[in-house]
Amino acid sequence: MATVDIGLTTTKAPFIENAQQNGDMFIHQPYELYSDENQETWRRLYARIRPLWESYANSKFMDGVDNLMLDPQSVPRLADVNKYLQPLTAFEAKAVAGYVPAYIFFDCLRQRQFPTTITIREGNKLDYLPEPDIFHDIAGHVPMHTDKRFADVLVRFGEVAKTAALRAQQLNQSDLAARDKIVESNIRAMARFFWYTIEFGLMKQGSELKVYGSGLLSSLAEIQHSIESPQVQRYPIRLEWVINQYFEIDHFQELLFIVDSFDHLFDLVDQLESWLHEGKLDNTAGGEPRANPEDLSSFLNAKVDD
Ligand SMILES: [Fe+2]
Repeated sequence: MATVDIGLTTTKAPFIENAQQNGDMFIHQPYELYSDENQETWRRLYARIRPLWESYANSKFMDGVDNLMLDPQSVPRLADVNKYLQPLTAFEAKAVAGYVPAYIFFDCLRQRQFPTTITIREGNKLDYLPEPDIFHDIAGHVPMHTDKRFADVLVRFGEVAKTAALRAQQLNQSDLAARDKIVESNIRAMARFFWYTIEFGLMKQGSELKVYGSGLLSSLAEIQHSIESPQVQRYPIRLEWVINQYFEIDHFQELLFIVDSFDHLFDLVDQLESWLHEGKLDNTAGGEPRANPEDLSSFLNAKVDD
């Protein structure tokens, strides 16, 4: 049967296409649709990354993998993941049909919800995928959400986005071009900070350097490269640098930033909010990531009264 063969493969799943056409952002996980090939892809990804985690992942991540009882043999059911996750930090993985506009994404974090992709990459594309899939989201991100301090960082990040939305809506609305330029700059700063920490962050652990960024933790090839390659520049994180540093998603990162601890990371998110209030995020350097009209409107039209 065609549906079973196609299953829930990235960019090829009719279930997801239908949800997108219906405008459904939040969906359920139709577990019966995963094909044998989808399950095999999970098994191969997990088997290949596990030894790399042992060498390069930070210890909180490894605790998270254990605490979530992830099954190496089959695609996780979000309900099972949440059963173990929620008692620890009240976070939950919430299935989405695809792209979530920036404000909505950050606001989910504020409410301890993590928008989670349910499709899985094709079996012949194990190494690289530009868009997130369930392996990136569940095996790369969610183990970190079992750590209380890290979870607090994500919530704090969501609060910064709410502050940015409130501020955006209070800007002078008579010059829309000037307003949009400020909001785009704010979004760029937040996206860059998120990229260089939550997605690609490195962290000191004793005398070693370990990975906590999910883009690295879910990459078979880049996790080792991020720690060992002489081609990567690794610097102690500086907020003024990160918010002005463009990034590109289609190749290995040549520049990575190191935090001392998740307390350090939490303080940086605090600082990000202070800088937002002070206007220091209003004129960040141009370049990637480009502002997307949906992201902009998600901030300008956000309901921020709760
Ligand atoms: Fe991610």
